[in-house]
Amino acid sequence: MADTPASDAFVEFERVQKSYDGETLVVKDLNLSMPKGEFLTMLGPSGSGKTTCLMMLAGFETATHGEIKLDGKPINNIPPHKRGIGMVFQNYALFPHMTVAENLAFPLEVRKIAKDEREKKVMRALDMVQMGQFGGRRPAQLSGGQQQRIALARALVFEPELVLMDEPLGALDKQLREHMQFEIKHLSDNLGITVVYVTHDQTEALTMSDRVAVFNDGKIQQLAPPDALYESPENSFVAQFIGENNTLEGVVESIDGNVATVRLDDGEIIKCKPVNVSKPGERTRVSIRPERVEYNKERMSDDAHTIKAEVLEFIYMGDIFRTRLRVAGNSDFVIKTRNAPDQVRLKPGTQIEIGWLPSDCHALDA
Ligand SMILES: Nc1ncnc2c1ncn2[C@@H]1O[C@H](COP(=O)(O)OP(=O)(O)OP(=O)(O)O)[C@@H](O)[C@H]1O
Ligand SMILES: [Mg+2]
Repeated sequence: MADTPASDAFVEFERVQKSYDGETLVVKDLNLSMPKGEFLTMLGPSGSGKTTCLMMLAGFETATHGEIKLDGKPINNIPPHKRGIGMVFQNYALFPHMTVAENLAFPLEVRKIAKDEREKKVMRALDMVQMGQFGGRRPAQLSGGQQQRIALARALVFEPELVLMDEPLGALDKQLREHMQFEIKHLSDNLGITVVYVTHDQTEALTMSDRVAVFNDGKIQQLAPPDALYESPENSFVAQFIGENNTLEGVVESIDGNVATVRLDDGEIIKCKPVNVSKPGERTRVSIRPERVEYNKERMSDDAHTIKAEVLEFIYMGDIFRTRLRVAGNSDFVIKTRNAPDQVRLKPGTQIEIGWLPSDCHALDA
């Protein structure tokens, strides 16, 4: 887990646990420390505890154990509306009977901001999301994406230092979703606000975040910047959850510094980077990214480990070729290659030899 010095921490979870029924912990001993201005995403499967963490930070749920701090101060006893936190949820929950401008003015009224000031702030927030012309409309007269932008403006209008977003783009189509991802990212960068974002879409998490906390089973499995998460997953769960991965199963034969020798279940011996294995005899899942596998002899490094493969399926995807192979007994082994002019299109039924660098081959927990 990446460590941030305590003095820099803006949001902190210290050994936080949460149980709704007094029996099962849905959040288990969570530690998290975020500096000001960071965009952090909680990513994980359904039921892994993401919303619960956000709700505790917002003050709608209390931690069963541990402490949550904002700017160095425990917030367990501060009511939600006094935490200065802006929130956007999946169902944007704009007030249907109010106009867009009234919706935005509402959080300012609650905070007793004078009318003149309110109007200025509302205009500025609408301009920020390029909705300046829409102040007089009601939510029902807007498209889904426009409503989403208004919800975002409403969360930002009172200039919160911290904004929490729970699956805010879940209801949007792919194109609008991608557009909004960049918009939210740019807004948060420009305004210097700290964001805790929740999603179960890994592409969204990788595109938007400074760091991503991968959740599973009420625990953070790994907390790292997107590139580290993708390139150096610390365990099998993260390797499988982030991006596509090929898995070969086997047993660790030996570990010598940075090299583990693994005997795959079909007898093949390969060299890997030992990541989450500690001793000979342990079962392991070896993981290799599809884009790190080469079949073109001319491009293959001298250090590559080569292995026989049978081509099962070739899919033309435009920018890339996706080829499914049988490798060491695994018939779901996928390789991805860039559609370059000299790239060979592999034919199903042919026997080929593929290669990868031992350093791209991670021995993880089974
Ligand atoms: N109010 C509640 N009372 C009882 N159990 C709850 C409550 N809210 C959530 N849970 C349980 O806590 C666990 C974590 O739920 P949570 O909503 O935090 O998951 P999540 O990671 O946000 O999932 P999703 O991606 O589906 O939104 C789940 O097992 C859920 O059933
Ligand atoms: Mg949730």
